[in-house]
Amino acid sequence: MLDQKTIQTIKSTVPVLKEHGTTITSCFYELLFTNHPELLNLFNHSNQHKGRQQGALANAVYAAAVHIDRLEEILPAVKQIANKHRSLGVKPEQYPIVGENLLKAIKDVLGDAATDEILDAWAKAYQVIADVFIQVEDGMYKEAAKQPGGWKDFREFELVKKEVESKVITSFYLKAADGKELADFTPGQYISVKVEIPNDPHTHIRQYSLSDTPDKKLYRLSIKREGRVSMHLHDNVKEGDRILLSAPAGDFILNTESKRPLVLIGAGVGLTPLVSMLETTLIQSPERNVHYIHASINGEYQAMGDRIIELTETHEQLKAYFCFEKPTEKDLQNQCFAKEGYIDMPWLKSTIPHDADYYVCGPEGFMKMVIHSLKRLNVPEGRINFEFFGPAIDLSEKKVTVKN
Ligand SMILES: Cc1cc2nc3c(=O)[nH]c(=O)nc-3n(C[C@H](O)[C@H](O)[C@H](O)COP(=O)(O)OP(=O)(O)OC[C@H]3O[C@@H](n4cnc5c(N)ncnc54)[C@H](O)[C@@H]3O)c2cc1C
Ligand code: HEM
Repeated sequence: MLDQKTIQTIKSTVPVLKEHGTTITSCFYELLFTNHPELLNLFNHSNQHKGRQQGALANAVYAAAVHIDRLEEILPAVKQIANKHRSLGVKPEQYPIVGENLLKAIKDVLGDAATDEILDAWAKAYQVIADVFIQVEDGMYKEAAKQPGGWKDFREFELVKKEVESKVITSFYLKAADGKELADFTPGQYISVKVEIPNDPHTHIRQYSLSDTPDKKLYRLSIKREGRVSMHLHDNVKEGDRILLSAPAGDFILNTESKRPLVLIGAGVGLTPLVSMLETTLIQSPERNVHYIHASINGEYQAMGDRIIELTETHEQLKAYFCFEKPTEKDLQNQCFAKEGYIDMPWLKSTIPHDADYYVCGPEGFMKMVIHSLKRLNVPEGRINFEFFGPAIDLSEKKVTVKN
């Protein structure tokens, strides 16, 4: 436990550190990768370039420091990050490395203002925060390994089928290379894929949501062709090839106990966790009304449109709404076509039930608009669940907010 003086020092210096936020965090990553180049195999280089991760890690340490005397209040946010760490394979022995380089960065940037007293207090606080993460992650590693079909780190999978879903999205069906059973998952969860790309000195890890029901002998990932890793998967990885996967993780999960209507709102490739939720609900809770809303450029870019239409024809409880930004002539005839242009609040208000559970996934601007609209429609925050396909950051809120 930290003494009062240390807690005071930490709390009084958080604003100063935040003020120098980007300088310290950029310096931190520079030091981290210079001193430990092997960590370039772990971190997402694109998130670094776009400055997303610069914000995430160190800012989360500051946010945790603000709550240093009541860390239990931010436990849900800690768990969300710990899920990501567990799926990446972050290890206890890497915590001192991060701590040491963060402290060096604080010292380098603040100069003489970083007194021994301040640095000492931060070293102690980091230790307390790191211990919480290590403990939570230890529980998660054990949990992942002990469940039937589970495993701890990365496991070899064989690609058994590739299926083109749209102009930009392809599904990958994977079975365990050892032929043994697979860990169960809750719809909404993701796995991490680790790949080696020809002529690239680093391994790369990316998260992908599981897009099918959990009761199969295969995992299905549906991946948009976008950058380094997804292009490698689309273009180079063939049926019969092997890739490494970590066990399912993540706290964006379907509440299967709820009797309320289920509203799934997605855009683009953000449909993946929602389709898993949809398919599972239709099987496991046939009495539950489901509204599936999906926005895309047009039918050529939309994945799984035909499957959704098929489901609406066989399940009265399902209503599907396709919103196309620029519909083709064919799209205008689609029986699920509901709106041309972007989804907006008036349309949502007139379309969705107001006493439901809401699950949202899509690009940043889309999610901000939908979440904002739901709040304005007086949906309690606890019923708005969302997943962002990138670093989620704000530790001070139970469920992280999406930031620029
Ligand atoms: C929980 C979670 C679930 C996810 N589920 C899915 C899913 O189901 N399906 C799916 O397709 N994706 C999913 N993603 C996203 C996925 O993890 C990858 O981020 C995505 O595939 C892009 O990775 P990439 O290597 O192909 O592209 P990257 O090479 O990482 O590039 C990503 C973007 O960054 C830009 N970029 C790259 N380098 C730079 C640079 N130097 N400067 C500026 N911009 C740059 C690229 O142009 C591109 O637009 C998920 C992410 C998370 C966190
Ligand atoms: C107490 C210390 C730490 C805190 C507070 C912290 C915080 C965070 C946060 C907020 C994220 C973003 C979560 C998300 O994507 O949703 C993150 C991601 C990540 N963390 Fe940590 N972290 C800590 C320690 C570590 C350590 C020790 C490592 C390993 C060296 C590590 C490696 C990573 C990686 C690789 C990612 C994903 C980054 C990416 O997408 O590029 N973290 N962490």
